[in-house]
Amino acid sequence: MDIYLVGGAVRDALLNIPIKDRDWVVVGATPDQLLAQGFQQVGADFPVFLHPHNKEEHALARTERKSGSGYQGFDCRFSPDITLEEDLLRRDLTINAMAQDEQGQIIDPYHGQQDLQDKMLRHVSPAFAEDPLRVLRVARFAARFAGLGFQVAEETLALMRQMVTDGELNHLVAERVWQETQRALTEDHPQVYFQVLRDCGALKIWFKEIDDLFGIPQPEQYHPEIDCGIHALMSLQACVPLSEDIATRWAALTHDLGKALSDKENLPRHFGHETKGLKPIKALCKKLKAPKEAQQLALLSCEFHTHIHRAFELKPETLLKVFDSTDAWRKAERFEQLLVVSTADSRGRTGFEHCDYPQAGYMRDAFQVALSVTAQ
Ligand code: CTP
Repeated sequence: MDIYLVGGAVRDALLNIPIKDRDWVVVGATPDQLLAQGFQQVGADFPVFLHPHNKEEHALARTERKSGSGYQGFDCRFSPDITLEEDLLRRDLTINAMAQDEQGQIIDPYHGQQDLQDKMLRHVSPAFAEDPLRVLRVARFAARFAGLGFQVAEETLALMRQMVTDGELNHLVAERVWQETQRALTEDHPQVYFQVLRDCGALKIWFKEIDDLFGIPQPEQYHPEIDCGIHALMSLQACVPLSEDIATRWAALTHDLGKALSDKENLPRHFGHETKGLKPIKALCKKLKAPKEAQQLALLSCEFHTHIHRAFELKPETLLKVFDSTDAWRKAERFEQLLVVSTADSRGRTGFEHCDYPQAGYMRDAFQVALSVTAQ
């Protein structure tokens, strides 16, 4: 049997970035042969085994073909005569479809090294379309490698668009979508994830409320020349150096949902938690099955952001209401970060300093009072 390192580890080594975990493919072996060598089988469906010593994942080379829609009818075949090239062909992107043999030689039948050099996220074959999760994965890799200058290849974006048009994204389950999304939120350029999803039409399938923000104008004196959708992505980006926390970054992205959508629908100016203004954010979090913490912080930032823009009186007690006794300080710190990012503007400035409207100062003062009361 031959054993090859595959996937992300080969890619990251060639990019000279730290390797997270290592996946291996075993060619020319049967499950019994691996078991006889002390490998432990993981799960029943896929031929995946753990190495007896280092516990790294070893999968038997396999091919997959889909005969049904969504996640039904996956035909997974593995046998000792499946070649490494056949196994690599079923993978998502060329940069993820390279292998390395025991002598350190790179095996690259689908030109992943060329795409690494050209900084292209390109699908390996039309079989890409058999797994709708890959649309989110491409967006996530785009978010991860944006700093290195990577882009999604035009033909891959076209295929992703086609998958959206064919309704393939509707077969995903909320848990998988949130899982990819929260991983994307931890990347260096999380806003690129949402931008790529918008470019291929997937944003309106799973993040309709955020998609609806695009095209809504912002008052020019606060955010010159930008629309609300772009502002949401900019706010998320502004949050990156301030916080690694997923809930905080999620709330930075969603802070304008209540205000913008109520503006659009001409709702009454004053609204709170239980009124229509916060419905979009609740609907979005519910659809994605976002953890309670992420939803609470998003609602909170949304509600207070509304107050900034509406010039309504913001009482310190209102802030206090939401700092529960257990981790008040952690919440307070994250909320302060949110206030800073929600003032992001098209010139890349954040923070209260550039805000010349009186509510901003009032908001900051109320926040300071709330913090001092919480501390006691
Ligand atoms: N893969 C795929 N399609 C998927 C999931 C995974 O083709 N829907 C393949 C890719 O070849 C990928 C490998 O399986 O490189 C391992 O998957 P995973 O560990 O999820 O991705 P990595 O590329 O290792 O990326 P990360 O650094 O995020 O772990």
